[in-house]
Formats: sequence, structure tokens, C-alpha cells
Amino acid sequence: MSEPRQILVTSALPYANGSIHLGHMVEYVQTDMWVRFQKHRGNQCIYVCADDAHGSAIMLRAEKEGITPEQLIANVQVEHSGDFADFLVEFDNFHSTHAEENRELSSLIYRRLRDAGHIATRSITQYFDPEKQMFLADRFIKGTCPKCGTEDQYGDNCEKCGATYAPTDLKDPKSAISGATPVLKDSQHFFFKLPDFQAMLQGWTRSGTLQDAVANKIAEWLDSGLQEWDISRDAPYFGFEIPDEPGKYFYVWLDAPIGYMASFKNLCARRPELDFDAFWGKDSTAELYHFIGKDIVNFHALFWPAMLEGAGYRKPTGINVHGYLTVNGQKMSKSRGTFIKARTYLDHLSPEYLRYYYAAKLGKGVDDLDLNLEDFVQKVNSDLVGKVVNIASRCAGFIHKGNAGVLVAGNAAPELTDAFLAATPSIAEAYEARDFARAMREIMALADRANAWIADKAPWSLAKQEGKQDEVQAVCAVGINLFRQLIIFLKPVLPLLAADAEAFLNVAPLTWNDHATLLADHQLNEFKPLMTRIDPAKVQAMTDASKEDLAASQTDTGSAASQGNGELAKDPLSAEIDFDTFASVDLRVALILKAEAVDGADKLLRLTLDIGDEQRNVFSGIKSAYPNPAELEGRLTMMIANLKPRKMRFGISEGMVMAAGPGGEEIYLLSPDSGAKPGQRIK
Ligand code: MSP
Ligand code: ZN
Repeated sequence: MSEPRQILVTSALPYANGSIHLGHMVEYVQTDMWVRFQKHRGNQCIYVCADDAHGSAIMLRAEKEGITPEQLIANVQVEHSGDFADFLVEFDNFHSTHAEENRELSSLIYRRLRDAGHIATRSITQYFDPEKQMFLADRFIKGTCPKCGTEDQYGDNCEKCGATYAPTDLKDPKSAISGATPVLKDSQHFFFKLPDFQAMLQGWTRSGTLQDAVANKIAEWLDSGLQEWDISRDAPYFGFEIPDEPGKYFYVWLDAPIGYMASFKNLCARRPELDFDAFWGKDSTAELYHFIGKDIVNFHALFWPAMLEGAGYRKPTGINVHGYLTVNGQKMSKSRGTFIKARTYLDHLSPEYLRYYYAAKLGKGVDDLDLNLEDFVQKVNSDLVGKVVNIASRCAGFIHKGNAGVLVAGNAAPELTDAFLAATPSIAEAYEARDFARAMREIMALADRANAWIADKAPWSLAKQEGKQDEVQAVCAVGINLFRQLIIFLKPVLPLLAADAEAFLNVAPLTWNDHATLLADHQLNEFKPLMTRIDPAKVQAMTDASKEDLAASQTDTGSAASQGNGELAKDPLSAEIDFDTFASVDLRVALILKAEAVDGADKLLRLTLDIGDEQRNVFSGIKSAYPNPAELEGRLTMMIANLKPRKMRFGISEGMVMAAGPGGEEIYLLSPDSGAKPGQRIK
């Protein structure tokens, strides 16, 4: 065996102003599986995380709830910790960025950067809310789009026409917090001089630290030139005051990644064998990996390594980026009941079902991952219950009945146990490379072979024949041993199933290396059902409950950017849309089931559309061209099915139908050729 590796792993720090949902869980489950795999293999692997507790969003929410930010983040930390624990995500430490270790490290890093000349100051002009006496981030300003004139648009882009602009271009700007008309005001800001690190970043981002797709994106940013990064905010702000600069605070994204260090430092105080410098010092030989979603790449692959370098620390070994979760092929949506909170899931289903499903779908790339709820039920039931657990339940009874629960010695299927042994390195490699999907495929292929072999030997028929008891025992001993191997391989994904299997097998906690041995002459414990099938009714109950959540809140946000600080660098590529943007539009054939005028609206029709798997309610401003709406019924048209639902005076509009023409009587609803079926997608 080679020396055990020393590995420090992080997941992104969840914002302390919202609940954990199944999108977040893609990240925490994936990181946890990788960490468990490393521990299973005998490496020293430490997994730290924290709540990301700073920023104006948290300050404002606390104010709204009538509590202090400290109370808010304490409550949320309890909620988040519970969600993670119940999803079997096992941190070595879950800390908070609003902690003394973080204040000290952030100040230290800032001072080092400043003293080395990497901090610039200059005055900038921004909108200021005279009532709230605070500067307004772009997302806290609303006004009329300067391009198309749509009202009520946020500070930097128009939802209607897609234009992007500076908040100062908005017509009739208003503070989204107080409603007051903002005024322009100057203030001194502090900037981190990112361009100082251009050469280092050029090398570092190409040195195997990033997946190819990520490295390519970063190369675009590097080529277009780096800009200084604004790291300060004016009071009032919930965060750390900048050393020697009263009234100025670190922008939340400055101290957030330092929170990784702070959480580790906090752990060191409890675990004396851990040495902070051995992991973070310039000469550290430990490995350091950050698992993050694709929306926060610039912070982790540009700003963070530059800050570390500038302050004299080591840089990450790798940034492991994953894509976004969609549910049933679409962005999570509160109105569809697919914006599912971690807790809502846990109220209805076992965490291991989802852990397995995510594992089965997670490759090493940055592609989005779809949780298709039908496929979820089908795959978990067929793989885990139908293949893996089935082996044990088929064999255990015969061993208990025929041999008092003692698994006999001998190997009746050496070719099969050899095949399992031979597959091990490849499964380990897949885990190591975070290609969980490949690991699961290979493990399930082994499970298929084991089941086929047992079916061929048919111990249930042998057991009915005279003088075949030895053969029954020999076959079932192989079955249980193969089951044990599968559990060893699956343990990082399914720790509860593994613990229950260990209890049944009557063995000490299994580690990866145990795959090299077989049980022989071994007493088993009583067999209890290890896992039950997913009942689709529970999945339905979960989505129903998620719709109820909608009644409690009203916003429809899914992404970190919309929940968070909104300051992520925009794609510099202008008004042309790239292919991915185009491909993210869900265009479908829709059958108009019902079309009717809307009382009190002179332009609108209410359409009931069949799009294959569901019905949609859509309001469309086409009445002037279709004064007898009933004539539309039974006709096919095209709709954009993943448009964010829009609350209108008459109800919620769940998409948009497509029509051409200047307006008035000249509106032409688009239709596909005859033969198209409702729900078919446009490709
Ligand atoms: N607070 C920042 C991270 C600071 S790290 C120093 C943040 N928080 S977040 O709560 O919005 O997101 C936490 C992680 O969850 C991020 O890596 C983000 O990409 C991931 N996800 C949030 N929503 C997601 C999906 N719908 N799908 C997959 N991952 C998602 O960003
Ligand atoms: Zn506009």
C-alpha cells in the first residue's frame, strides 16, 4: 500500500438566508460520496463547510423578520445542519463565516494583500437610498427598461427584452427596499488588483486543476483581460469591518472562501493531530479540493487562488465543478412543485434513494443533471431493491433454514469472484475521478452477473430436491459473499444500507480493502429487509407538499445568482445568444383544449394547453385576432414551456404561445404540420 494521502475537501458554503433544496444537494451529496470513498480507502480526508452568513440579503431578511442577523444565521445553521445530517452528509466541521477565526484570517489576508500593494482605492458613484440610508446593489433597484419601456425591471437587465444596462440607465428608478427614488452618491471603495496575478492564473488554470470545459471558459476571461475586483461595501452591511477603515466592510465574497480556512482552523482546535499549516502553508503537501457549482467558478478559479497566492498560502489542487439540477427536464419550479426543499424530500423519502440516483447520473463533467421523477422511482427500485438487496434476500433464508445461519466455506464460483476482484481497480478509478455514473454502471453490471448466476443455480429448486442441501449452501454462500462485495463498493453512496448489511453479515464496518477476502464458516445474523421500494405515491405527495410551500412564499428563484449577491461577472458575449441559451428554451407542440375570453381584459385569451404530460394555463394577448376564441379549440400551436410562470391579475400564466405579426387583427398563431403530437419538443 502507498502512503495514505492527506486531503482537505470543501463544498461551497450555502447562503444563510434560505433553505437547502435538492439542487444544493447535488453538490453536498457528491462531495460527501467522494470524501467517504477516500476515508473508505484509508486516506486522511477532512471535509469542512460552513454557512455563508454575510451580506445585505441576510441583513435585510433579518430586519424583515424582526430579529438580529446573528439570530437569523443561528436559526438557519441549525436548519442546514439538520438537513445535511439527515441526507447523510458527514462534515468533519460545519462552521459559519461569521466567526472569530474567519474575522482574523480575513483581516490577515487583507493586510498581507494591502502591504504587498495588491489593494487599490478609488471613489465610485452609485445609487443610494436616502430613506434607508444605504447604497443599493443592482438587484435592489427597479425601474423602467431604457430599451423597451417595460416597467418594474431590475437594476441591470430587462426580463422582457433581455437588454443589459447600468442601473443609472433605468428610467424612473426606485429602491426595491423602500420605494424611495435613489440618488447618486460617491464613496471610497477598495479593490483587489486581480490583474497582478494574470501570469500566475494563466499557468495555474492550465495545470490540471480544472476540468477542460472550465479551463476554456476561464481562458476566455483571461484573454479578455482581468479587472480589479471591488471588495468593499459601505455600512450598513452585515459582515466584517475592514481593518483600519471604519464604516467599510468586506464584501461577502471576500470572506466567504476564507471561510473554508476558518472552518478548518476551528476544527484544528478540536483535533490536535491536525496542523493548520500542514494543509494551508505555502509548502503544504496535502491535497486541497473545492467542490462547487458552475455559477461560482470565477470566485474559485480566479479570485481565490490569486488571494491565496498574494497572501502567501498554498493554492487548491483542484476545483471540481458540477452542473445544475433540473427536475423533469426543467428548471426547478415552485408552481410545478419541483422546487423541492431538502426537508420536504426527507419528510417523504429515504435519503439513500436520492444519493444513489445522483450517483448514477453524475459524471465528471459540468453538464446539468436531471432528476426525472419517474426514472428516479424506476431506477432505484430496479437497481437497489431489484438487483442488490435481492441477492441477499434470495440467499439468506436458505442459510438460516438449512444451516442455522452459518455461511459455509468454499468457493463454488471462482470465475465470478475473480471477475468482481478484477473490476475493483476500475471502480476505484471511477470514484477517484468523480465519475460516479461509471462506478454505478460497473457495480450494477456485477450485480446483474451475480443475479444471473444465482438464477441459473436456482437454489429454490435445489432446496426441494433430495440430497442437494450442500449445493444449496454452497450457492448461497457465494451469493452472500457477492452481496458483501457490492456493499463494499456502494458504501460511499449508501452508508445506511452498508451499516444494516454489516449488521446482517455480522462483520465489523467494511472498508475498501475488505473486498480482497471472502467470508467462510461465518455466522450470519437474522435477515431483515434492507430496503423497500419507492412508492410513487410518496413522490407525488412530495411534489404536492412542494406546491404548498409556494403558498407560503412567493418568489420563484432557483439559482445562486438570484438568491445571492448577483454580482457574478456576466458573460461578456453581447446580445447574440449562444447555443446553450437557445437549447435551454423548451419549445413544445401544444394542443389548445380550451380558449376563452377573460372578463375585464380586452386583449387577453385564457388558453388551456395540453403539452403531453401536463396541462398549462396560459394568458395570451391575441384576442383582437381571434374574436371567437372557441374556434381555436382543438388546434395545435407552439409554446415555450419553461418560461418562468408569471403572476397576472387574472391568474398565473405558465408559459407563452408563439405568434407572429404586428398586432391587432394581424396576429398569426404558429402551428406545426399536421401529425405533430402535443408535448413533442422542437429540436
Ligand atoms: N454562498 C455561495 C458560495 C460561497 S463558497 C465560498 C453560494 N451559495 S448557494 O447557497 O447559492 O449555493 C451553494 C452551492 O450549491 C453552490 O456551489 C451552487 O452552485 C450549488 N447550487 C445551488 N443551486 C443549485 C442547483 N439548482 N443545482 C446544482 N447546484 C446548485 O453560491
Ligand atoms: Zn426591456
